[in-house]
Amino acid sequence: YRMVDLIQKKREGGAFSKPEINWIIENYVSGAVPDYQMSALAMAIYFKGMTTEETAALTMAMVHSGKEFDLSSIAGVKVDKHSTGGVGDKVTLILAPLVASFGVPVAKMSGRGLGHTGGTLDKLESIPGFNIEKTEAGFIEQVKETGIAVIGQSDELVKADKLLYALRDVTATVDIIPLIASSVMSKKIAAGSDAILLDVTVGDGAFMKSVEDARVLARTMVDLGRSVGRETVAVITNMSQPLGFAIGNRNEITEAVQTLKGQAPQAFQEFIAELAQIMLQLAGVEKTIPEILEHLHNGAAYAKFVAMVKAQGGDPSAFENLTAPLKVKNTLEIRADKAGFISCEKALGIGIVAMKLGAGRATKADKIDFEAGVTLAKKVGDAVAVGDLIATLYSNQAITEELVREFTDNLVISDEQVHQKEILEIVR
Ligand code: URA
Repeated sequence: YRMVDLIQKKREGGAFSKPEINWIIENYVSGAVPDYQMSALAMAIYFKGMTTEETAALTMAMVHSGKEFDLSSIAGVKVDKHSTGGVGDKVTLILAPLVASFGVPVAKMSGRGLGHTGGTLDKLESIPGFNIEKTEAGFIEQVKETGIAVIGQSDELVKADKLLYALRDVTATVDIIPLIASSVMSKKIAAGSDAILLDVTVGDGAFMKSVEDARVLARTMVDLGRSVGRETVAVITNMSQPLGFAIGNRNEITEAVQTLKGQAPQAFQEFIAELAQIMLQLAGVEKTIPEILEHLHNGAAYAKFVAMVKAQGGDPSAFENLTAPLKVKNTLEIRADKAGFISCEKALGIGIVAMKLGAGRATKADKIDFEAGVTLAKKVGDAVAVGDLIATLYSNQAITEELVREFTDNLVISDEQVHQKEILEIVR
């Protein structure tokens, strides 16, 4: 084949055969197809889409572009989870230990954040000493011994995605359903778990802006997983406001620890418990919501988290510091200038403010300040009186008036009370 002909074929709305897709991925990973041709193809896919068969072939070609992990030596049904990204998304930090506390092994590889989306790895690295790198043998050993490991995605895993994601990120080709579906599912399939829970985020702070698009993405990924024998369920979750109260790194660890100890607001605990119930079902373990909540209150889930942190080199003194106040040079409180109800806290805008405070990366080379971020005191639906605390901004840089305005521009207080649900739909 010639890449230029294939780009033209897609530009004109054609569908690729499996050999054509295999050729594209093999030659892209080997370097024979340059980035500029691949980015032209990604843009053609944005306009012309891909069929179900093309998406399945692309996913498997991507799986085969790197190492496939074999977790079969770990007893039991291994479950994995993946979020399509958001703001304040600390779900893995809570859900993985909670599920593992029921004896279901969790062997998870996570990624880093970029732009307004936070990454689980960065959050874990805010724990002093925490090591996100493990050999395959070490990873498997830890899951056998403690029932849980959350490590960095191996460089060997889905090489095509590493290259393609970086390219998509700078060519406005991230938010394309077949490309997101193949990116996510190739990594999940190669990582070796038997069953997968997908958290498909929707709203302002997510790649999918409408429930209709999220539904198509969820359906595509669930079908892809099943077609290769991995039981997959997708939950469509609301990302129009940040998830929970903390947006940053160390403050998200604090919120995760408090949730693992049963100290989070009831609604948030129930949201996590519902996700845990689905993950447990995928592993063949039936538990009621009260039974799951019990593990947040009796120390079982937190004990798993502690076991994981210890197994991954976390400094023992870290545990006292995980919930200590953030140590930054500058803090600034945002207070209500009128009475009413919080009716909007835009996830994207608030995520960008947190990034500018130092909590995220605008480019891959940026260094994260683990102590920086935003901690909300009120969420959508909460009543406020004049002067009530809505949020605190934390930074080691100066917090400019401009940044404060940027924050308040993403906040609406109105007379009417609106309620937002966390789980919008479940796609099985
Ligand atoms: N998350 C991924 O892993 N891949 C995408 O393409 C988008 C979100």
